[in-house]
Amino acid sequence: MRSCWAREPLVWERPSHSTAALRIRSSGPGTVPLYAHPDTAAWAYNGTVPGPELRIRQGEPVRVVVANKLGQDTTVHWHGIRLANAMDGVPGLTQAPIHPGESFTYEFTPPDAGTFWYHPHADTLQQLGRGLAGALIVEEREPVAIDRNLLWFIEDWRLDQNGAIAPGFGNRMEAAMSGRIGNTVTVNGGVPDQVSVKAGERMRLRIVNAALARIVALRFEEHQPVVVAFDGQPCDPHPLEGGRLLLGPAMRADLIIDMSGQPGRRYAVTDDFYRELAYKLLDLTYEPTSPIREHPDQTPKLPANPLPEPDLTAAERYEIALQGGMMGGMGMMGGGMMGGMGMGGMGGATWAMNGMAMTGDGQTDMPPLLTLKRGQSCILSLRNETAWWHPMHLHGHSFRVISRNGKPNSRREWRDTVLIPPRERAEIAFVADNPGDWMLHCHVTDHQETGMMATLRIA
Ligand code: C2O
Ligand code: CU
Repeated sequence: MRSCWAREPLVWERPSHSTAALRIRSSGPGTVPLYAHPDTAAWAYNGTVPGPELRIRQGEPVRVVVANKLGQDTTVHWHGIRLANAMDGVPGLTQAPIHPGESFTYEFTPPDAGTFWYHPHADTLQQLGRGLAGALIVEEREPVAIDRNLLWFIEDWRLDQNGAIAPGFGNRMEAAMSGRIGNTVTVNGGVPDQVSVKAGERMRLRIVNAALARIVALRFEEHQPVVVAFDGQPCDPHPLEGGRLLLGPAMRADLIIDMSGQPGRRYAVTDDFYRELAYKLLDLTYEPTSPIREHPDQTPKLPANPLPEPDLTAAERYEIALQGGMMGGMGMMGGGMMGGMGMGGMGGATWAMNGMAMTGDGQTDMPPLLTLKRGQSCILSLRNETAWWHPMHLHGHSFRVISRNGKPNSRREWRDTVLIPPRERAEIAFVADNPGDWMLHCHVTDHQETGMMATLRIA
């Protein structure tokens, strides 16, 4: 994390309250430096890109004062935290926008330990795309037995030749396809070359994909990471599926990695999601010292979070079709926008869910897509009818992914964002226990802002 403005203090008050002050600003040129492009001007929380890593504790109240010094409205959404609706940070839906010069105090008590993050929910494409995002780590009550904690906060930037953030947020063509994918991937705000490790070390590596649109698929050369959590929620420890860690925008994973490589050697971590555009993210570089232990102990399992278990036999079932976008691959030639999906009169939306399209920051006068009875177990069947990938995020809840393409998912992991490939289907189950109006949207920000967004009402 690099800072440019004098670092403003994060004030901690424990045990009654942890208080953090976030001051949000846009910078003039030459301020927040990205490693590879020292002159990149970004918008920042407390002057750093990414924003400060907020570490709070499970079950302990936290208070964050957000002071808006941007030239436009903002809010902060605590992605993945199960909190009261009024603290969820959706402008017009859960709170009034924080106008320039105003402050808003968020208060919540995180029920779940895990890896979360925070970002704006107003003009998200631009505000997130210009750097407003940070990690929110909720620590377990009892520490987990590992040697070292690492966080890789991944962001994706589209920079011009001068290293400035390229304008043109909200390009319609891009919005109808994969969204604004950049040309510079940073880890913790820089373009790292290597991370140095010791042979025999056991790492807990938290990875956050905070990109606007980029999906990553990480491979760890000659290492066998064990996934212990997705989206902050512990899962049965298991190896990477297909040898790679697939994370769409907003998704997180916690990995336990035993450093089983040779002292003095380097091992590449690569991202090959876009096959023609595979690149090396960084190297794990072993110090030349002998291993700190010969044999790793058993992989620790993270303690479970207090999630309400959906009753699948009594669950209400809802079908949600994800619709729209450009069809048939990468070009206009492939058939143009999808028409006749009931999107006429939707103000030129590009995407829709069941024919409904909420755009921009959301239209709160639109009726909810679903109204769910509080306490009811629900199954949402999300059917991707489009030619594009969608990481679908539900606010205020975590859900189990119970099936994919009609096949039961034996892992049934908890998530708050489920990545659905083109033409595929995922079923998620949860208890609608958190009252209020909650967003359900694609986290490819261009898709979200051009129609793949809706609200669920729990009453
Ligand atoms: Cu990361 Cu609507 O959220
Ligand atoms: Cu999408």
